[in-house]
Amino acid sequence: MTANAEQIDYWNGPVGERWAAYQDVLDKALAAISDAALAFAHPNSGERVLDIGCGCGTTTYALAKAVGPSGSVTGADISLPMLKVARGRGVGVNFLQADAATHLFHATHDLVFSRFGVMFFDDPIAAFANIRKALVPNGRIAFVCWRAARENHWASVPIAAAMPLLPPQEPVDPLAPGPFAFADDARLRSILVDAGYHNIRLESLNSTMNMGADLDAAADQALRVGPLARAAAELDDATREKIRGVVRAALAGFATPQGVKPPAACWLVAATP
Ligand SMILES: C[S@@+](CC[C@H](N)C(=O)[O-])C[C@H]1O[C@@H](n2cnc3c(N)ncnc32)[C@H](O)[C@@H]1O
Repeated sequence: MTANAEQIDYWNGPVGERWAAYQDVLDKALAAISDAALAFAHPNSGERVLDIGCGCGTTTYALAKAVGPSGSVTGADISLPMLKVARGRGVGVNFLQADAATHLFHATHDLVFSRFGVMFFDDPIAAFANIRKALVPNGRIAFVCWRAARENHWASVPIAAAMPLLPPQEPVDPLAPGPFAFADDARLRSILVDAGYHNIRLESLNSTMNMGADLDAAADQALRVGPLARAAAELDDATREKIRGVVRAALAGFATPQGVKPPAACWLVAATP
């Protein structure tokens, strides 16, 4: 079977289409985390950057702005629907449909960046070893990934509230490719060591996810992306309406005048090749 076949299907199917359709909503949701991750990566004027799992290209264009006309940025992703949105959003950036785990990269990048695009590899050691080949000898990788679901209330609170209304759920393998695959910092470090990286640095980022202006928008978002969206995808409209109600109530404690903002817990990760 092709490497990452399941994830390639997944991100080219309804989930990729949904990310493509709600790109602006998701970008608002992730804005605080995105700013922190870009500041951590610190792209400099003139640098050549590769954005792995670039999705709809938001960070790719932000990186292009940071490196300026003397630099260059390539976004790589497996999802055609998301790349289509990315390509339509601007000029001056190169987008590549490629599996970062196996693509033949050349050592021409000063910085490899990713916003939540590197937790989906079947064989993370092999994938990160392959990505390392994209870096010049004095280059660096910098990415943001999620810590545990229980610390990410935007993900754990909606699904916990909806559980009585959901069909029995298969136990989740915490190490399987997926958003929370790198929750364990010791495992993440050992993957990077085994993939040949040095100077590995992990910082906790305690931020928030802006799930929307009000509780209706927040419940809507929980039903569109994240663990609840996956668990409730096949349910009938009446059940989904009931779920919307309980999720709305469960998120009420996170409502602020600036939006519904549950805690979002990430690792900021940097390393050298
Ligand atoms: C959670 S989304 C994040 C997208 C984007 N970075 C953002 O923050 O909006 C994960 C992205 O990783 C991409 N992805 C997953 N596996 C990949 C792989 N093996 N190679 C390249 N991209 C991959 C998906 O297609 C998807 O666009």
